[in-house]
Amino acid sequence: LFAQPCAFLKGVADLSGLPASDLPEIAFCGRSNVGKSSLVNALTGRKTLARTSNTPGRTQEINLFYLGPEGTPRLMLADLPGHGFARAPKAKVDAWTRLVNAYLKGRPPLRRVLLLVDSRHGLKAVDRTVMGMLDGAAVNYQVVLTKADKPASAAVQRVHEATRAALAEHVAAHPDVLVTSSETGAGLPDLRAALGEIALP
Ligand code: GTP
Ligand code: MG
Repeated sequence: LFAQPCAFLKGVADLSGLPASDLPEIAFCGRSNVGKSSLVNALTGRKTLARTSNTPGRTQEINLFYLGPEGTPRLMLADLPGHGFARAPKAKVDAWTRLVNAYLKGRPPLRRVLLLVDSRHGLKAVDRTVMGMLDGAAVNYQVVLTKADKPASAAVQRVHEATRAALAEHVAAHPDVLVTSSETGAGLPDLRAALGEIALP
């Protein structure tokens, strides 16, 4: 699947801009700067498909990408604006948060939310809020630890364990927590395999 073409479809700034779609859709969600756009690029092997930046608040719209042969796409990827702190006016950040929350709760083709969490920091309050919201909306989600190249491996393991343990009380959470690095490619084969099972054949 990830060897097939991937193309930008559109960026949407409000719910009415979302196209009707039957394609299984995967959303990349998480705090600002956690590495959502970088993971979209790393998975697809395209360095500049999604725009990334050191500055939190880079992605300001829901960016949709479709994956698969031209004319017969198999999967839609949605790169979301980040939750939480961003270098942007509060009114803008609030608007993205409303957009992302409404999208997450009410997007019919959404099959799985990848909740990205920095492997140096583990789950934060805003992550738990999103998890509670997804549990309530019965939207399937999976936690993906990012930037695993940064901390020492023992520290990653501790965060991995703690994150897995915290999922027990979350009804809509996938029990497996993936550990990834967009920098080294660690964990990407497992994530590609998981998404391959959700894609159209
Ligand atoms: P927003 O769109 O602002 O919410 O951010 P984002 O979650 O899309 O993060 P983005 O992909 O733009 O990455 C933020 C920063 O983290 C960039 O400087 C990336 O180069 C860096 N980064 C992302 N993934 C990794 C990783 O796996 N390892 C390392 N070392 N850096 C990473
Ligand atoms: Mg981004």
